[in-house]
Amino acid sequence: MNRLTLLAVGLCFGMVACVSDTFDREAIDLELFKTVANASPTNDVAYFVLPESHQLTDLPQDPRNPLTAKKVELGSFLFYETGMGIVPENSEGMQSYSCSSCHVPAADFKPGRRQGIGEGGFGFGYKGESRVKHSAYAEEQMDVQGIRPLNVLNVAYAAENTLWNGSFGSGGANVGTEDAWGVIEEATELNHLGYQGLETQNIEGLSIHRLKMTPELAVELNYKHYFDAVFPDVPEEERYSNVTTSLAISAYLRTLTTYRAPFQEYLRGNMDALTEEQKRGAITFFTDANCTSCHSSPAFNATKFFAIGVHDLDNLVSFKEGPELAKKNLGRAGFTGRDEDLYKFKVPTLYNLQRTPFYFHGSSKNSIEDVVEYFDQAIPENPAVPMEQIATEFRPLNLTDQQKSNLVAFLKFGLQDMHVEKYMPSALPSGNCYPNADPLSRQEIGCE
Ligand code: HEC
Ligand code: HEC
Repeated sequence: MNRLTLLAVGLCFGMVACVSDTFDREAIDLELFKTVANASPTNDVAYFVLPESHQLTDLPQDPRNPLTAKKVELGSFLFYETGMGIVPENSEGMQSYSCSSCHVPAADFKPGRRQGIGEGGFGFGYKGESRVKHSAYAEEQMDVQGIRPLNVLNVAYAAENTLWNGSFGSGGANVGTEDAWGVIEEATELNHLGYQGLETQNIEGLSIHRLKMTPELAVELNYKHYFDAVFPDVPEEERYSNVTTSLAISAYLRTLTTYRAPFQEYLRGNMDALTEEQKRGAITFFTDANCTSCHSSPAFNATKFFAIGVHDLDNLVSFKEGPELAKKNLGRAGFTGRDEDLYKFKVPTLYNLQRTPFYFHGSSKNSIEDVVEYFDQAIPENPAVPMEQIATEFRPLNLTDQQKSNLVAFLKFGLQDMHVEKYMPSALPSGNCYPNADPLSRQEIGCE
């Protein structure tokens, strides 16, 4: 409210005359600030302001994994550490892949391709787009999943329950699902540890992706003193493990906010950070299109689950994941076993959509224009999803062509932080090549 008053004062009251384009520009700012405030549960634009990555106390965190600068630093190395790839399915892949094989900074922490490839991939390209199947691998040996990787930017705002089906995490939406833990998905047994989704999932994620930390490896890769400084209270025999590695990686991931996106700079007071078209798009986003009815957190993600009837990945790609795949296509029901959860998927962040043109859990749309068209028409594309499952908020919007193109401009440019590659360390303590270290990637990344 304060900001609104300030703006109103600056608008005309203190001026001798209002030049007409100045007037228009400020009127639209006034309208947008009011709109943003109205869309927040606190009636305050500050709700949508994301902390800078070093403002640790302002970031959402797991009380059992408090953020510290040293922990974040350790995690910032381990997320890229190819040296942890010591449990490959095929010895060809030994120490050649990392978490970041599928979450590539230059691709906005997605794989740069329709489907991510961890172990079993070969090559990198510029942002992961030309990683292909390694010829020494059988399809069944590859680390691929039958669903598109989620963006880990802004994950702190949807960390209570992670994955498209929200299966990890003991709290949040998973309160009341205890009977399902460890039942349909064995790994969700880990929810009993009592961590939030992010911390829980990454313990399992390390072994799923064939990565491992051990006391010997911590020494070999030069991480021992980092673990000692970050986890002095953890008994030595547990200090260099997948659990502490998960805690450090999770801390790092929580700091990956898109606070330099133009919309963020605008909310912080730079009225020129958005173009007029983007401002009008933002107004449509919060009002007529009401995107925040589902994308409701400060980062426009949420630990809420809806069916909007998009295609699954298996219709579109060649790598298969076996029985896991069919379960993933069921959405949240693949975890809870409840009919009412069928085909419902987690609400992903809307920041940094631009640099990897694969949208929805099945990568079924290739442009932001197509996504906006899909929401405007609200006709489910996947015949396997019964109409009664489709969210009531998913209904025709009847936007004008002008509104749609403004909305696209806001999503594409207003919500795009072009500085996220800064989150990648400039070297690893191990000296290893990253995020991949297979022979072709090494060349493409410039490691030799
Ligand atoms: C083979 C590619 C691949 C690799 C390697 C990989 N991921 Fe992922 N990641 C995915 C996919 C696919 C999903 C979505 C899976 C799902 O929801 O079922 C995902 C989801 C996530 C999420 C969930 C985000 C959210 O909003 O719920 C996090 C966090 C994450 N990955 C972190 C990691 C970490 C940490 C590592 C290394 C231990 C890692 N990933 C390695 C493909 C990969
Ligand atoms: C009914 C709740 C709901 C509403 C309303 C809604 N969304 Fe979504 N949105 C979702 C869900 C759930 C997903 C993930 C669906 C999936 O992949 O199965 C999603 C996915 C997306 C994606 C893809 C992101 C990615 O990482 O693939 C974009 C972009 C998007 N929404 C934009 C919008 C815009 C723009 C609006 C307003 C016009 C909007 N959404 C309204 C629930 C909603």
